[in-house]
Amino acid sequence: MCGIIGYAGEDRALPVLRTGLENLEYRGYDSVGVALRGHEGLRLFKQAGRIKDLSLPEDDDSVVGIGHTRWSTHGEPTDANAHPHTDCTGTVAVVHNGIIENYDSLREELSDHPFTSETDTEVVPHLIEEYLAEGDDLPTAVDRTLERLEGTFALGIVSTEFDGIVAARQDSPLVIGHGERGAFIASDVTAFLEHTREVTYVEDGDVAVLSNGGVEIRNGGEVVERPREHVEWEAEAAEKSGYEHYMLKEIHEQPTALRQTLSGRIDELNGEVDLDIDLPKEYLNSLEEVTFVACGTSYHAGLYAAQLVESLADVRASAEIASEYEFDGGRDPWRTLVVPVTQSGETADTLSALRRAKRAGARSLAVTNTLGSTVTREADETVFIRAGPEIGVAATKTFVSQVATLALLSVAFARARGELSTTDAIEFLGHVRQLPGAVQKVLDEEAAFKEAATEYADGEAFFFIGRKLGYPVALEGALKLKEIAYVHAEGFAAGELKHGPLALVTPKSPVLAVLTQGSSPEATLNNVKEVESRGAPVLGCTSLRDAEKFLDVTFDMPELGALSPLIANVCFQLFAYHVAKLKGRSIDKPRNLAKSVTVE
Ligand code: F6R
Repeated sequence: MCGIIGYAGEDRALPVLRTGLENLEYRGYDSVGVALRGHEGLRLFKQAGRIKDLSLPEDDDSVVGIGHTRWSTHGEPTDANAHPHTDCTGTVAVVHNGIIENYDSLREELSDHPFTSETDTEVVPHLIEEYLAEGDDLPTAVDRTLERLEGTFALGIVSTEFDGIVAARQDSPLVIGHGERGAFIASDVTAFLEHTREVTYVEDGDVAVLSNGGVEIRNGGEVVERPREHVEWEAEAAEKSGYEHYMLKEIHEQPTALRQTLSGRIDELNGEVDLDIDLPKEYLNSLEEVTFVACGTSYHAGLYAAQLVESLADVRASAEIASEYEFDGGRDPWRTLVVPVTQSGETADTLSALRRAKRAGARSLAVTNTLGSTVTREADETVFIRAGPEIGVAATKTFVSQVATLALLSVAFARARGELSTTDAIEFLGHVRQLPGAVQKVLDEEAAFKEAATEYADGEAFFFIGRKLGYPVALEGALKLKEIAYVHAEGFAAGELKHGPLALVTPKSPVLAVLTQGSSPEATLNNVKEVESRGAPVLGCTSLRDAEKFLDVTFDMPELGALSPLIANVCFQLFAYHVAKLKGRSIDKPRNLAKSVTVE
């Protein structure tokens, strides 16, 4: 996720910005930049690459400046796309974290302004320029600009005409630091922790003006008081926002990740989806097959998506383990759409599968979290999941964002093929929209998962069962537990238990069941009875009241139709996390595993 730092005070801004940017490196970034407001106007330094490679004027004595680490979402990681962005005159500079959803229409409106980047952010300085030209001061010009923006943002803005910084927040984190000789803005407190621990968390709709050593916050035009807090955390804990592990932080970031994934892509009124991909309707109509190729967690996302595509778009769809994938001919390659799903965009097995498919003549559409990654260069089209960087080796928020993106893709295919009515599309997209809130409800119950983990952590083996859309979630639940807790865990299609695995079930093997909508819960309940009668403790994710009497632990689930199993997955993530923690495992870096597997 992008990182913001800003300083306005009596000291030189550059050293504050440099250390601030270094402190934000842990968030992941591909480009970096600063804008310094000095006597002779704004000085801008930015480029794709690392902070250490950014050549900065060490003697600069500006006392106001902003800096940014960019994790690309709109536009490749290039020098031009790096922040800060400026207006035509170079007198306004802006750093931004978030997504401006209506940037296309604003860009059209500003068509007489020469744009120099492909970013959504660049509309902001150009709008401010317009209002400054009408005689507004910077805070007023920012207010008027904010009224025009749709989407999510944390913004830091400097201008030659104003001795300070104006900052604003809507659905993206922003914090103010109160120092003795100046004030700071940042995406999180780690950026300025060595200067001050006195902070104010900016709220949605707030505009903060930092000038003359002071800070004034307004909301809806009125000055508001926001509490000052003293941060006790050390830098390392602050990087994890106070969570003990990145994995837990990322599990809790899922509602935010999902909002970013969905932002600006759903037209709920008309039941349409805009993923900005160039696959003509005639092509989608003539599709014979969609094949998802992926590994590990991304493969499970592919399994989920294959069922959605088949049921919504009525086209044959399957998910293949990338390292096993062969394109064996016998089909019309051009009418086969191959979809590599990979959060890193660099997994060697997935890239090989893509290359094989391309050689055979298939068309390809990558789904990834990483702009500029190899898969984006090699696939014909790409859709980004926009989950933000994931540092824990175990994939969590990228899984939920992958499935949400693929759900949108399924609707796009279905609508283009005329297989989904507007009413049904509106209903499905309504569920997609509610995903962040439903995931939040599960996260709010974390204590229940911790309690269950404490009770069952000593199990000799753990079996996860589910049907239909619950099956990939059963596989994913088991994968999470084995990779971070180092215990034996398996996921099964619930109906398969009686064909063999039932022999493994004992009172020492807890069974975790998906019993939600979209996973044939009534049928799975029969399998729950089978394991229960053999003495296995059963933990179930369900809203079925009938199920409770067969369960030792019931995790109450919000239901969202075909997306309900995806919510159950969050229960399994929290269960796995707490089992691993009780066992004292290296949760963020499990043994023998790497975040990005670049060998076949
Ligand atoms: C599991 C996990 C791995 C990855 C797999 C594919 O938690 O992280 O199974 O899902 O290595 O990685 P990507 O998605 O980068 O291709």
